[in-house]
Amino acid sequence: SSPLRLGIAGLGTVGIGVVKIVQKRAELLAARSGRDITITAVSARDKMKNRDADLSAYRWETDPMAIAQADDVDVYVELVGGDSGIAKDSIEAALRSGKDVVTANKALLAKHGQELAQLAESLGRVIRFEAAVAGGIPVIKTMTESLAGNEIQRVMGVMNGTCNYILTRMESAGLPYETVFEEARQLGYLEADPTLDVGGIDAGHKLAILSSIAFGTQVDFDNVEIEGIERVSIDDINRAADMGYRIKLLGVAQMTGRGLEQRMSPCLVPADSPLGQLNGGTNMVIVEGDSVGQIVLRGAGAGEGPTASAVMSDIVEVARGLRMPVFGQPAVGLTAAQPARTAVP
Ligand code: NAP
Ligand code: HSE
Repeated sequence: SSPLRLGIAGLGTVGIGVVKIVQKRAELLAARSGRDITITAVSARDKMKNRDADLSAYRWETDPMAIAQADDVDVYVELVGGDSGIAKDSIEAALRSGKDVVTANKALLAKHGQELAQLAESLGRVIRFEAAVAGGIPVIKTMTESLAGNEIQRVMGVMNGTCNYILTRMESAGLPYETVFEEARQLGYLEADPTLDVGGIDAGHKLAILSSIAFGTQVDFDNVEIEGIERVSIDDINRAADMGYRIKLLGVAQMTGRGLEQRMSPCLVPADSPLGQLNGGTNMVIVEGDSVGQIVLRGAGAGEGPTASAVMSDIVEVARGLRMPVFGQPAVGLTAAQPARTAVP
């Protein structure tokens, strides 16, 4: 069959990671997809930047919109970032011009995921976003495919590696929050706006996306109760340790009698539990299903290889022709006639 032609917008950490996998694993990807996967065009702001990959075979576009609307692209891979602006406009344009979309953009999906998913569905296109939650951990496919026979009862986890790094380092080195925050900045771990990390917002975005998939609800970031790690002190950490606990920025989503409950906040977890043994920038997502019980997924939540790995899983899924929507899948117990439940405010 004909090759699947990618247009990649954004050639930063994740975009270059995707280019490298497409180049390095062409045979494997073709075998697993049943067709070749090729890159037609790429886009970033600065054509002169050294990007640690050979891009000479691809058409260069400075404007992502030119890729989103190109006739020789089947899948628009949005890796620019941002919760609105060019990321959103170009995804909409790509869907309207008959392309499927793959993105890692958690901020955009937390804010506009529902409307983008509806637009995709109305146009008979798909939008995939495995990399948007917990980087390389395949949590979305685990829930939608591997746990398809389960009613999901609870989803929880550590979904921001930077916060886990800061808390772990405060604990192991006995350093105050401000010192470790500065270290994290110098190591390049923090988002351009660090409040997204330490304020719990980035992790809240991820939880909102996951809980929507788990419970068949609308993506509802505004109703995630969020508290960041800025006020966690070394005294808090030491007192927790004395009692056999550690402090983690933990997200929990569950359906209660009052509707969907979503919380992202510093929590005490037993030091000998899987969450209590999670160190550094690693992520962990725990999914509880009625038949399977508890599943613990652990891995790299960020970085070139892990995040590109998740993006590639979506690209291969599109290449295979799997076209079920991810958002909007009813939870077990809901019939097609019932709309997905919205959260009770
Ligand atoms: P990044 O390194 O900052 O790269 C962004 C890319 O987009 C750059 O190539 C940049 O061009 C290009 N760009 C930015 N604004 C643009 C504009 N207005 N027009 C055209 N191109 C523009 O970002 P990243 O870390 O790869 O992240 C990409 C997406 O993945 C984001 O949504 C992020 O939240 C998500 N994500 C990242 C990670 C991670 O570990 N990095 C993990 C999970 C999800 P220039 O290179 O020319 O500046
Ligand atoms: N800032 C995020 C983190 C990047 O630290 O987990 C990956 O989403």
